[in-house]
Amino acid sequence: MTSILQCPVCREPLLPTATGYQCATNHSFDAARQGYVNLVLAHNKHSKEPGDDPDMIQSRRRFLDLGYYLKVSDGINRTIATALSSLVPHTNCSILDAGCGEGFYLQRLKEALAHGSAAHLPIEYHGVDVSKFAVRQATQRDRTMAWFVASINDLPFLDGSLDIVLSVFSPANILEFARILKQSGSLIFISPGPRHLNGLREIIYPVTREHAAPAITEKAEALFAPATVARITYPLALVSNQEIMDLLAMTPYYWNIDRETKAKVAALDRLQLDVDVEIRVFKKKSGDGP
Ligand SMILES: C[S@@+](CC[C@H](N)C(=O)[O-])C[C@H]1O[C@@H](n2cnc3c(N)ncnc32)[C@H](O)[C@@H]1O
Ligand SMILES: [Zn+2]
Repeated sequence: MTSILQCPVCREPLLPTATGYQCATNHSFDAARQGYVNLVLAHNKHSKEPGDDPDMIQSRRRFLDLGYYLKVSDGINRTIATALSSLVPHTNCSILDAGCGEGFYLQRLKEALAHGSAAHLPIEYHGVDVSKFAVRQATQRDRTMAWFVASINDLPFLDGSLDIVLSVFSPANILEFARILKQSGSLIFISPGPRHLNGLREIIYPVTREHAAPAITEKAEALFAPATVARITYPLALVSNQEIMDLLAMTPYYWNIDRETKAKVAALDRLQLDVDVEIRVFKKKSGDGP
């Protein structure tokens, strides 16, 4: 049996068993009751419960399920369908959402690809997040996909094993992404465009600066061809305090702002803002690897 999963202890392939996964050296990882597998080794944990906490995950789920980011999700799905169209038909195809959160984007991707030009491809879907709370929620969206608790800094995949790595507003490790991608593979990287969440940011900061291009662009130069960039922008009107607070909890501002500023946001029950998102496609440069 072939596997694209890698044992986090010895780096040998991980194969499915009746209860989870195991490598040839007998390192074994049982699936949780909810269906995901935790592949974070205790000594690699930098905090007791790394990643987003349960409240942040609930806020993200409530907000995303309102449909305000459907255009972003649709843009991602179109981009990935195009990237897949250059692959040889009928080859096994693997997609990873790295930092998948509670699974919104991967679930919608699967639905979109099941009906479009990629419908003929046998695609395996994998989602990874370091927050076990996020992954637990993700399994509720779709138990047929493979969900793992793992870090983007130690991804449990063999070298050259994935066609697509998707990263949506999540921390990135460009070396790990390049390692696990096949030579023809693409990294689809989603980050805030210059005006993202203006409207909210104007309340938080006295002066609103434009978001700069993501740091990954420079780091990717050695390993990937220059990225193509597409931008999705549209206005958004939030119509309740819950929506506004949920959006805030999805952003880094949630942690960065002081109590007084948080109270200012908490007093709002209407908010007009900009969605401005950039989708970059980095194609892995060919080299001597797999
Ligand atoms: C801003 S959220 C984005 C989640 C999802 N992609 C979305 O857009 O809904 C960032 C996510 O990265 C996860 N995260 C943070 N550090 C991580 C790491 N080292 N490895 C994997 N995931 C990480 C968090 O738990 C959180 O779910
Ligand atoms: Zn092992």
